[in-house]
Amino acid sequence: MTVTADLGVSAQVDAGERIGVPRHVAVIMDGNGRWAVGRGLPRTEGHRAGVAALRRIVKHSAKRGVEILTLFSFSSENWNRPPAEVGFLMGLLERFVRRDLAEIHRQNVRVTMIGEREGLDPSILGLIEEGEALTRENTGMTLVVAFNYGGRNEIARAVKRLAADVAQGVIAPQDVNEDSISRYLDTAALPDPDLIIRTSGEQRLSNFLLWQAAYSEFYFADLHWPDFDECALDSAFEAFAARDRRFGGLSAKVAR
Ligand code: IPE
Ligand code: IPE
Ligand code: MG
Repeated sequence: MTVTADLGVSAQVDAGERIGVPRHVAVIMDGNGRWAVGRGLPRTEGHRAGVAALRRIVKHSAKRGVEILTLFSFSSENWNRPPAEVGFLMGLLERFVRRDLAEIHRQNVRVTMIGEREGLDPSILGLIEEGEALTRENTGMTLVVAFNYGGRNEIARAVKRLAADVAQGVIAPQDVNEDSISRYLDTAALPDPDLIIRTSGEQRLSNFLLWQAAYSEFYFADLHWPDFDECALDSAFEAFAARDRRFGGLSAKVAR
């Protein structure tokens, strides 16, 4: 697989279908609750339907040749929801890992988590780490699960570790720069997202990938997450392919 890293576009295709597909796609899967309430169902049914959408999007992203798919599944602020909803979401994640991990592994997908691990329920963390270990050597798409994740929390944890390393003389203060900060983030091993999709019509980051989103393209879909399907993802990729990414410079079309 070859990659043109400068524009964040995966250049080559597995099955002839990767033209203009972003290399790293990050998704804020929003609107589960409203999807359910709109159908007269409890919010939890929306989360359940959201897992089905997640399965479809993982499969379709891999098929389209996305290299990295990051899914915002639970934010560091989502603990502020009613305990019953939080409990349901934790149970859902647990069941998802138990039921789907083998299939994800079979799809050659590598799973990794970003977010704060400290303080997480040990059984949930154990399952996630089991998934990471099982799929570590896989060579297909990387699925990044943003769980107990908040951009400010991530930056604060990074700065804390960086400060400790400065205090111990591992890194000199004058060597602290954008690259070294990036290396202390949970996303150290990942390129920045090329495309950030948010469903359900909201147009905000909600503390997602604050540092990494500096030059990401944004795509807001009016569909609630459970209704977001293969077609909707293709529409997002089409919109991305038509964007003119300049990174503060000049358009590739006029630069010469
Ligand atoms: C996204 O759907 C799922 C999580 C945040 C865990 P929501 O639960 O936020 O649904 P809305 O936005 O309330 O409709
Ligand atoms: C962002 O959605 C978090 C996830 C999708 C996991 P929220 O529903 O929590 O965001 P706000 O509260 O509407 O900003
Ligand atoms: Mg929401």
